[in-house]
Amino acid sequence: MRVSPHWKRNGRKGLPTLLRAALPLLALALLAGCAGEYPQSTIDPRTDFAEIIHSLYVQVFWWTMLILAVVWVALTWVIVRFRARPGDGTPKQIRGHLGLEIGWTVGPAIIVVLIAIPTIQAVFETQRPLSEDALVVEVTGHRFWWEFHYPEQGVTTANELWLPVDRPVSLRLGASDVIHSFWVPMLGGKRDLNPIVAVREGEEPRYNWLFFTPQETGLYMGQCAEFCGESHAFMAMRVNVATEAEFDGWVEGWFASRGAAIPAEAPGEEADAAHAGDGTAEGGAMVQTTAIPSSVDEDPLAVQGRDVFLNQATCGACHAIQGTPAQGRIGPDLTQFGLRTSLAAGIMENNAENLAAWIIDPERFKPGVNMPGTQYDMESRIVAGVPRFWPATNLDEAQVRAVAAYLLSLK
Ligand code: CUA
Repeated sequence: MRVSPHWKRNGRKGLPTLLRAALPLLALALLAGCAGEYPQSTIDPRTDFAEIIHSLYVQVFWWTMLILAVVWVALTWVIVRFRARPGDGTPKQIRGHLGLEIGWTVGPAIIVVLIAIPTIQAVFETQRPLSEDALVVEVTGHRFWWEFHYPEQGVTTANELWLPVDRPVSLRLGASDVIHSFWVPMLGGKRDLNPIVAVREGEEPRYNWLFFTPQETGLYMGQCAEFCGESHAFMAMRVNVATEAEFDGWVEGWFASRGAAIPAEAPGEEADAAHAGDGTAEGGAMVQTTAIPSSVDEDPLAVQGRDVFLNQATCGACHAIQGTPAQGRIGPDLTQFGLRTSLAAGIMENNAENLAAWIIDPERFKPGVNMPGTQYDMESRIVAGVPRFWPATNLDEAQVRAVAAYLLSLK
């Protein structure tokens, strides 16, 4: 005896056929209602740039909906009108139809032109010349982290970009090694960061630029969008769009950490003169700040960590912390590290536990990372005869905890 599956046995008695057919669609509509917050959404633009891209997306969407509707109506009509019926002979045979041929060539061609016009407009709008009052940030892609330098302010930070709301921003994009791509879906991108190779005398290095004006404060998530190696997927970033006062406070705090005055122009940066405008830019003014006692001094563990970081270990060879002798430029600048919400280029929460685990074995979280762990077998790290990493730091667990406490106190 053949037993049919239960859905065949019971199905017919249940819901009417039409409703059964519509069930998947209803389920889809229901699930769409569960949509949460998507931090990397392109359909939730928060800059003029993202707005332009989004409006293009919406236009293309409605054109495709129109095509879908035409195809479905025609298909339904053909299925119903021309279905085989008992007693039908061979249908009339047609070879070619001039009207149809012209129709399905000209129709799509018109739609392509109508999509091309706003697309070309968007290309020009998003490549417009640098606006005068724009805040310039030099973005450098490294395997696998982001460096942000503000020439006007003389500030350098990593992985978490601070921007003031409602002020145009010009990001100058370059890379130190391979091609990366800047992409913060709600703000702008994707635009490549190309390695800046040596240029001839009198030639300008060919940077890519990205211009936008953030319209709303908030924390925005971004991602490297060009495959750049084994940890490409772990090369995330965050953009903190703050009020102008908060942004200025952050810049001031960066300098306060060394108890110095903000210079009118950052030293040794030729680019500054070109971008400083007429000198009335607020960041360019001389701001006197008194040395704020660092929160480091309040925590004995942090004090111990500072000693390890600056005197006992080689951290300062790669990392810089303003106000200290650590001025390495190979790894991320760690000034105000305690303000960062994430760790290791956006891949985990910035807290003592994660930070200690990261310092002990960065490779565990980010394959191919340059930062050395506390211990490792050098033999296993030799690729094509060349050691891939800097020597192990040889810190013991207590030292690691102290360094973590020190870094988290930097704010
Ligand atoms: Cu950097 Cu992918």
